[in-house]
Amino acid sequence: MMTSKVKILISEQQIQNRIQALGAELSEDYQDKEPVLVSILRGSFLFLADLTRALTVPHEVDFMAVSSYGNAQESTGVVRLLQDLSSDVSGRHVLVVEDIVDTGLTWQYIRANLMTRRPASLKIVTLLNKEGRRRVDVQVDYTGFVVDDAFVVGYGLDYQQKLRNLPYIGVLQE
Ligand code: PRP
Repeated sequence: MMTSKVKILISEQQIQNRIQALGAELSEDYQDKEPVLVSILRGSFLFLADLTRALTVPHEVDFMAVSSYGNAQESTGVVRLLQDLSSDVSGRHVLVVEDIVDTGLTWQYIRANLMTRRPASLKIVTLLNKEGRRRVDVQVDYTGFVVDDAFVVGYGLDYQQKLRNLPYIGVLQE
């Protein structure tokens, strides 16, 4: 039973405003490129849903599932591919959509995996970026918000698979 309280860190309005700005920036950068947005399940499903509607350029969406944490709160360092893309992305402009880049291990794995398919370009947009937590040196192209090292939940991010439905980003209070 979940009895902890959730304190709002980034409000629903702040998230939506930032996504509109990211949508405008990405629409500019991906003009005439017809990118494939690759949403990394499960955490990015809400961000993908709002981001795709904030884009004004033609694009496709596809999904990939990986697991790095399981039910643990810390990355084990081992990333597994659980579900592959439906489409062939060779020669395509691929934009990976993540809810959070933390240690960077997941993005490092996904990056190496997708590069073998020879995309025309490969970048990432993440809603949250815990820059101070990197264990590997990976480049992040587009960031919604830089956050400190706290246990964040909501807007796709879970606590033991729950709380993904919160419309805001919160921090669990003991
Ligand atoms: C989260 C998040 C990223 C990853 C980032 O996924 O969605 O994919 O962790 O962490 P890293 O930079 O330390 O690798 P998680 O494994 O919690 O699965 P979920 O998306 O299904 O919640």
